[in-house]
Amino acid sequence: MPGLLLGDLFPNFEAETTCGKIKFHDFLGNSWGILFSHPRDYTPVCTTELGRAAQLYPEFEKRGVKMIALSIDNVTDHHGWSKDINAYNGEEPTDTLPFPLIADDKRDLAIALGMLDPDERDNTGMPLTARCVFIIGPDKKLKLSILYPATTGRNFDEILRVVDSLQLTAKQKVATPVDWQQGDRVMVLPNIPEEDACKLFPRGVFTKDLPSGKKYLRYTPQPKE
Ligand code: BEZ
Repeated sequence: MPGLLLGDLFPNFEAETTCGKIKFHDFLGNSWGILFSHPRDYTPVCTTELGRAAQLYPEFEKRGVKMIALSIDNVTDHHGWSKDINAYNGEEPTDTLPFPLIADDKRDLAIALGMLDPDERDNTGMPLTARCVFIIGPDKKLKLSILYPATTGRNFDEILRVVDSLQLTAKQKVATPVDWQQGDRVMVLPNIPEEDACKLFPRGVFTKDLPSGKKYLRYTPQPKE
């Protein structure tokens, strides 16, 4: 059974979090959102990931992206663990992070959103949550999903890079090439006819000559907002 697919309306689930009960669509409002899951509280890789996510909170905020994390323990555990995460970051060990942590101790959401990792189990044999990343657009539709196993920590700088690409390509008829970073040149979409490309991109279109003679590798400077 397929899980959530790109373009699907993201479920409007209700959940307990470290910031109280939420209904997901109300939590998002008109913003972009990122929901990222963790296998378990008080685990080492997750602690480093949440520490980095907390450091990058101002960057997500700058981009208008609301952050929310999930782990399969309860709110009390989440608050206790948050103290460790803040201490790991070299900060005051307060019991909250800059974003809410969803309590999914019964694994209801992990199951509903297809987030369980069958290879990683707790000491009672129950599967743990994989490291999912869901990025949701202001239309509440799924724009990106990435799924890592529990044993591989994510790179949150890469996730910010992806947000930049998603937000740019939502507005402009461009795509971002390999290893693209904000401000780099971008690609003209393949479905734009040559005669339209120059009008659409007045800053210039550079077409790379290729052995096939096909003119599909078209660069343009990153368009302004
Ligand atoms: C961790 O966060 O360190 C972790 C959690 C579950 C399985 C493997 C690693």
